[in-house]
Amino acid sequence: MENLIAPAIVLSDLLIFALVFVMPFYKEKKYKKALSWLIGTGIVYLALTIYDSFVGIAACTLLSGITLFLIVIKHLFKVKKTDRYDVFSIVIAYVFTIVYLGYSAYVANDLKVTEYSFDVGSDLRIVQISDIHYGSFGNTDKLKEIVNEANAQHPDVIVLTGDIVDENTSVERLHECFSELSNLNARLGVYYVIGNHDSNIENYSLSKLFNLIENYGITPLKDKCVILDENYVLFGLSDPSVSEEISVDKIASKSGVDLTGYKAIVLKHQPSNYAGIVANEDVDIELVLSGHTHGGQMFPVNVLYKLSSRHADDLMYGTTELDGIDFVVSSGATGGEMPFKNMTISEIVVIDLH
Ligand SMILES: [Fe+2]
Repeated sequence: MENLIAPAIVLSDLLIFALVFVMPFYKEKKYKKALSWLIGTGIVYLALTIYDSFVGIAACTLLSGITLFLIVIKHLFKVKKTDRYDVFSIVIAYVFTIVYLGYSAYVANDLKVTEYSFDVGSDLRIVQISDIHYGSFGNTDKLKEIVNEANAQHPDVIVLTGDIVDENTSVERLHECFSELSNLNARLGVYYVIGNHDSNIENYSLSKLFNLIENYGITPLKDKCVILDENYVLFGLSDPSVSEEISVDKIASKSGVDLTGYKAIVLKHQPSNYAGIVANEDVDIELVLSGHTHGGQMFPVNVLYKLSSRHADDLMYGTTELDGIDFVVSSGATGGEMPFKNMTISEIVVIDLH
């Protein structure tokens, strides 16, 4: 089913274009020009799709959308020099598409370090890495860059907050990914929570994935907690796509460990149900770290994401404070499933607790 989404989008792009653009031309007996535009866009799509289906979709949508917009303007304002205007439309559509996607590809690939600092009472330096989607995006050089940048921060603990791999990751690339990530270095360890995509690898059960991750020296936390030091306890929640959400209080009582006096850091892939986190009373939660949103990815996806968010108060990017708990949402270390990002960044996050 998912394999049909890409061709369906492109087909609807071309159909909209054909209906609104070709038909008036047909009436004007200039359909040959319109048809050659249509074929041209189709060829651009096919050529780009060989490289990456998302590049094809994005380019085709932009080319069709911009041309459509300019054609509507042409008819609204009854432009007289139509031949010149049509050439202008096509040039504008191609230039905008190339500049917009080129810039977005650059942003997706440009790794930044984002720093936050919170007053909690005890020192701890955390590095958060999220949403690499290795398999859809990146190569070993990108992984090496992420690992080197993370280690250069000299963190006490490193956390991987889900969608590190995804349904497009082959078993070979799965090993490649965690073999590189095994070079992450933190004195209190490297921890991992599952996302909604890395739980979807074909013929790879969750327990098999967790075994593989553990073999590379990374500790998966699925509705579990682990004592980090004399001040902090780290909770890792499962993702709703894998199992029903369990409260931090419940995980703590199930663990049988007396957590009195410990401050809790919670890893939770999706930044949803903040009210549920705040409702925990037995555990002193100080910080919640999430990813998943890709910071909205790019315009106009970010606007659609915000409008369609099930929990309007939950965060898409950055940090917020609710009832004494600091929430951080990372936009992820790469472009994720698509090699484009804008109006956000690719990042690793450094959090200093004092
Ligand atoms: Fe996700």
